[in-house]
Amino acid sequence: MRRKIAVDLGTNNTSIWSNGSVAFTEPTIVVLSASDERIVAIGNEAHEMLGKTPETVISIRPISGGVISDFSIAKAFLKIQFSKLSQSFELLRPDVMIAVPSGSTSVERRAALEVALEAGAAHAYIVEATLAAAIGAGVAVSSPAGNVILHMGADVTEAAVISLGGVVAYESKRVGGNTINQAIKQHLKNKHGLIIGDATAEEIKQKIATAVVTTDDRELEISGRDLTFGMPRNVVVKTKEIHTAISPILELLSAVVESALEKTPPELSSDVIDKGIVLTGGGARLSKFDKFLTLTTGIPSHLAEDPELCAVRGAAVVLENLNLWKRSIITKS
Ligand SMILES: Nc1ncnc2c1ncn2[C@@H]1O[C@H](COP(=O)(O)OP(=O)(O)OP(=O)(O)O)[C@@H](O)[C@H]1O
Ligand SMILES: [Mg+2]
Repeated sequence: MRRKIAVDLGTNNTSIWSNGSVAFTEPTIVVLSASDERIVAIGNEAHEMLGKTPETVISIRPISGGVISDFSIAKAFLKIQFSKLSQSFELLRPDVMIAVPSGSTSVERRAALEVALEAGAAHAYIVEATLAAAIGAGVAVSSPAGNVILHMGADVTEAAVISLGGVVAYESKRVGGNTINQAIKQHLKNKHGLIIGDATAEEIKQKIATAVVTTDDRELEISGRDLTFGMPRNVVVKTKEIHTAISPILELLSAVVESALEKTPPELSSDVIDKGIVLTGGGARLSKFDKFLTLTTGIPSHLAEDPELCAVRGAAVVLENLNLWKRSIITKS
């Protein structure tokens, strides 16, 4: 039997499922030697080199905005990841399912099918990430009721209303966890005259940022480079100021849900209020983001379990039951 591999090829992270479980999640990064473009490292190893790399190497993220932006690097990345899964005695090439954004174009979808085939797949399939995430979160997507899913990644956030196993309405915006980090960096620069790196912005977000302010005002000492003097300097940042800095991004995120709901047929609208919104994707882990959406949309919102793995798990369910989902997939051999 052919090996089956499900892939969530994300802007920041790629998760790969095989043989009944998620095999690994690794950063979607490839480091090349600058002189001959040979691959030096990929995934975790490549991520550890970020920001510390000498001029002899270059790092490339082959996915941006949730879609393939560098085809040959994406292919090399997948090929190496697939090779970790296969055993030397395996003769048959695998069947590969890739989750793609609901907002991706037909050209971008074709690129996802092609990349899977060129990385070694015998048959390539794609499924919309919002549908996959809903399935992976355990939502009863096949029922005739309207289910709302919000899938928030690093670069893209999509909200979809799903009924009878298909996406009925959706909204896709190029905003996500990375956008929040950018807002945090901008705040540090404007208000504290400090330049901080991506890892520091991520640390601030994970440790003290929140989508809804409470009395719990935490603080964190971070270091960066002084904007004027170029010297290292430490600054203490607080929950409230970070909340103010990221508020415009939170508004954009809430607008993604509202816009999907506006496109929803009225027959499904009442279900949506009853069932609530399920939050998936790593970006949805932002502290109190569920509470924020409940307040702004008036619809109860809940963070799924293992939100960053919902899409790959759902893609795997679809791959294992192709007949059941044939209306929701696109394929190429
Ligand atoms: N505890 C946390 N709090 C806030 N944000 C988090 C947390 N953990 C992860 N994230 C964010 O989740 C995002 C990555 O999520 P995910 O892996 O789902 O994205 P991706 O699939 O790589 O991106 P995309 O779907 O946009 O292509 C990052 O922006 C990261 O900062
Ligand atoms: Mg993603």
